[in-house]
Amino acid sequence: KTQHSPNVVWESWNIPREEREKRNGHKAVVFWFTGISGAGKSTIAKAMEKKLWDEGKHTVLLDGDQVRHGLNGDLGFSPKDRTENIRRVGELARLFFEHGNIVLCTFVSPYKEDRERARSLFPDQRFVEVHVTCDPETAQERDPKGLYAKAKKGEIKGLTGFDGDYEPSENADLTLDTDKSSVDELISELIQKVNDIA
Ligand code: PPS
Repeated sequence: KTQHSPNVVWESWNIPREEREKRNGHKAVVFWFTGISGAGKSTIAKAMEKKLWDEGKHTVLLDGDQVRHGLNGDLGFSPKDRTENIRRVGELARLFFEHGNIVLCTFVSPYKEDRERARSLFPDQRFVEVHVTCDPETAQERDPKGLYAKAKKGEIKGLTGFDGDYEPSENADLTLDTDKSSVDELISELIQKVNDIA
């Protein structure tokens, strides 16, 4: 049960998800990419989305950096704010899911409990947790946004992958190691998973 404002009654859509899925020619599903900063979540999700788009599938990509530029721009990186960030984007993913989309979410989402709460919003098998991993040293070397350099200088505290916690799940549906496999190989694995479900 999710929390709601007082005196509001859930009003459903005229077009149920199943109808939308039928017309789209595929089911709705959420792929939740989690992992430390610089692991490769966004790179993989962007390439995956392009591939799905080329196949004519209906997709939405929700990314931490983008969501934090607007909708969740009021939140920082304290544990409490991260939990609220994931709560909100989980709900957002649910709205897009109910509209029949394949929703790709890329959030560090470092806390297991927050990811489990997000999972609980979706039917069984329709929430795929994808742990994107690499050696923390690799992430530090990649440092695409210069955040690790800042963390080393003490300008950022609690960067996930440096001095911020990350709680891996024992039950991630997929683990993708970006040290060991190329993006193309990982995309094939993901597309296979889409075809199994959707
Ligand atoms: S969270 O933990 O799920 O709420 O984070 P998220 O919304 O995914 O935002 C992560 C991106 O914000 C930048 N950033 C940080 N990440 C982690 N820890 C700290 N302290 C931090 N400060 C800024 C960073 O660009 C993250 O994006 P990625 O792509 O993961 O590097």
